[in-house]
Amino acid sequence: MNVITETPTVKTVRLGPAADAAALPFTFLPGQFLNVTFSIGGARMNRSYSISSSPTQRAYLDLTVKREPRGAVSRHIADLLKVGDELEAGGPVGRFTFTGTEANSIVLISGGVGITPMMSISRYLSEQSWPNDIFFIYACRSPADFIFAKEIAELERHNPWLHVTVVMEHPDGTDWQGLTGRLNTDVLSQAVPHIASRRIHMCGPPVMMEAVRSLLQELKVPAEQIKTEDFGTAAPPPGEGSNRFAAAATGPLVSFSKSSKSAKIHLDQTLLELSEELNIGIEFSCRVGTCGICKVQLTAGEVDMAIDDALDADDKVKGIVLACQAKPKGPVTVEA
Ligand SMILES: Cc1cc2nc3c(=O)[nH]c(=O)nc-3n(C[C@H](O)[C@H](O)[C@H](O)COP(=O)(O)OP(=O)(O)OC[C@H]3O[C@@H](n4cnc5c(N)ncnc54)[C@H](O)[C@@H]3O)c2cc1C
Ligand code: FES
Repeated sequence: MNVITETPTVKTVRLGPAADAAALPFTFLPGQFLNVTFSIGGARMNRSYSISSSPTQRAYLDLTVKREPRGAVSRHIADLLKVGDELEAGGPVGRFTFTGTEANSIVLISGGVGITPMMSISRYLSEQSWPNDIFFIYACRSPADFIFAKEIAELERHNPWLHVTVVMEHPDGTDWQGLTGRLNTDVLSQAVPHIASRRIHMCGPPVMMEAVRSLLQELKVPAEQIKTEDFGTAAPPPGEGSNRFAAAATGPLVSFSKSSKSAKIHLDQTLLELSEELNIGIEFSCRVGTCGICKVQLTAGEVDMAIDDALDADDKVKGIVLACQAKPKGPVTVEA
């Protein structure tokens, strides 16, 4: 393992094959991610990280991680990982992929560290000499925070199909000559001709994703052409999760069969949240239905799930559900 500093708050962790192997032991699609597990302070913690390198690169794989000021795992990665360390990782997983066969052009809109899956896709398509338009649009706080700035300029120089637009929110005091402010409909429609007819991939901070979604709606882009990757929400600080549900639960009874524990659930509570109250120990990472770490077997009853991206058809047939999304419709039994 190697570590590359990209910006003051972002590092790339470069993972190589085992010492006796020439290539990575698995393949992946551009846009997929790994689920990485760390043991920190005696606790097992899972987090997902998009692969930022191209799948054609078989000698290494890059994860590019932003250090969150109070983040448990990203600080561990940024401050403590050293060259030569080994990582426990699962995957690759994820459906936020683009290989060039899905559409005859692609618009990649990202903000902040949401650039990582877009980088894998752009690197891959450029290496393949994909003969179609790639519109790469990036919203960034300041020039110092522009991840992969040099390489993107290089890719653009060599790939005539790659059209890069960068909007800098706070360029003050720098020599930034490009667009400033935030993404708006003028920037998007000038950067991408006929945007309403194109496939769009979007990844960034939740506020930015919400804003861009409205802009795309204004520009009449049909919702089914927009694919998004949600990097997840903050884990509730200790105590907050239980405060949210201070009153007595009035929802259906949930039985955790392996732990021999059961309790009524609150009407807006997920199986994962109830399991945390009862110390069941269901593992999780994203809490937004993407990573699949919280999969559990439902042996009785039915649940609603707002998002079930991490389940495949086979999981659904077997009655596997995502604990972070599952809200029971009636009494349920969970194998946990
Ligand atoms: C599919 C997918 C792909 C992803 N890809 C990437 C990627 O390529 N690069 C990347 O950097 N991240 C990526 N993420 C996000 C990543 O998985 C982690 O969520 C992120 O690194 C934060 O983890 P953490 O353990 O550092 O923060 P956590 O400890 O989980 O905290 C999350 C947030 O809450 C804040 N917080 C924590 N404790 C408190 C508190 N007590 N009070 C107030 N705020 C608090 C932290 O500052 C942080 O912002 C991805 C997520 C998903 C789901
Ligand atoms: S924690 Fe990621 S899908 Fe539930």
